[in-house]
Amino acid sequence: MPYKTLVILSVCTQIVNGITSAEIIASHNYPVEIHTVVTRDGYLLNAFRIPNSIYCEQSGTKPAVLFQHGMTASSDVFLVNGPRDALPFMLADACFDVWLSNSRGTRYSRRHVSLDPSDEDFWRFSWHEIGTEDVAAFIDYILGTTNQSAVHYVGHSQGCTTLVVLLSMRPEYNQFVKTAILLGPPVFMGHTHTLGQIFLRTLIMSMPDCEFMFHNRILNKILRRICGLFVVRVYCSTFFMIVNGKFSDHLNTSAIPLIAATLPAGVSSRQPKHFIQLTDSGRFRPFDFGILRNLINYRSLTPPDYPLHNVRPLTPVHIFYSDDDLSAAKEDVENFATSLPEAVMHRISTPSWHHMDFVHSMTVANVINKPVIEIFKRFEQPIDCKGSL
Ligand SMILES: *[C@@H]1O[C@H](CO)[C@@H](O)[C@H](O)[C@H]1NC(C)=O
Ligand SMILES: *[C@@H]1O[C@H](CO)[C@@H](O)[C@H](O)[C@H]1NC(C)=O
Repeated sequence: MPYKTLVILSVCTQIVNGITSAEIIASHNYPVEIHTVVTRDGYLLNAFRIPNSIYCEQSGTKPAVLFQHGMTASSDVFLVNGPRDALPFMLADACFDVWLSNSRGTRYSRRHVSLDPSDEDFWRFSWHEIGTEDVAAFIDYILGTTNQSAVHYVGHSQGCTTLVVLLSMRPEYNQFVKTAILLGPPVFMGHTHTLGQIFLRTLIMSMPDCEFMFHNRILNKILRRICGLFVVRVYCSTFFMIVNGKFSDHLNTSAIPLIAATLPAGVSSRQPKHFIQLTDSGRFRPFDFGILRNLINYRSLTPPDYPLHNVRPLTPVHIFYSDDDLSAAKEDVENFATSLPEAVMHRISTPSWHHMDFVHSMTVANVINKPVIEIFKRFEQPIDCKGSL
């Protein structure tokens, strides 16, 4: 069934996108702004900003928070749990200035100064470039727009990988990151066992650089209808499971229609390929182009490891991970943490807490979001020991 879904996806052509992040935010009566950021290599990326909330009662500067979504997702992923339970809304209520980024190739970031998504050259990137170019461009833009000196960062899945790439490859960006929250970070991947990887591996590895799973309005509309019916929710969960891990007992099933309407959001085939390379090598390193191009690009037969010792944001990295996350396995995450100069570990031992539960669990507000807000507040008001949560 999942393979069929994939084929259907690749046969359909993209027409116009369905429900957007801006619509989700506005539907909950929050203000929303759309900002366009240009990267050094010419991609035009969109970010959604929630600049305020009626529940924020303090005046004064609101500290900026940058969100980065995972592979096959977009800014939508952080919003579908709604205003009471989704971290961006909770942060806006707590007087933070919320920015939701969208990396190149996703439904909101499909423009380039000279290339078109129908050009193969548009798709010559993996999450390496998303880290070194896109995340850097968003940070520059937010600092320029808000006149702040650094941002708080929340990454989920590949959104963690990209920050680690940026801070290791362009260490001058460490000073612009106040706190880094990594939710289920795939970095070392020797222990990853997702079904998607097992089933789709051969297909992915044989693909040229191209658009892999794009957002399709009509298909997503149909999926959303179908997913609204309880009986077929299992089908839809199956589809997302293939991309993200396996079934979860904690998933907010009311959010499934919206998840189905907004996923998948478009990736280059080089992104999953690069992840599969990490599962094969057990190392965290740039894309392996094969011996010849490696020699040209890296001056070595294999890609060099990312220099993780460079990852030193203004406070130690916070890593949220779980015993049952198959995409970011416990052993690998703990190994990653010991490779960092400093990390604070938040282990979730709740059984069957899976990769998407860091954003979609029914209990995400208490298990993840409130502790994250507390970490940000502690940075902003280091003297106030009482805390308000
Ligand atoms: C930006 O911040 C700097 C120092 O933090 C200040 O000197 C400058 O006036 C600010 N600029 C604007 C436009 O607010
Ligand atoms: C589940 O998702 C629905 C739909 O977005 C939302 O209204 C609700 O608050 C969410 N519940 C929890 C506990 O996350």
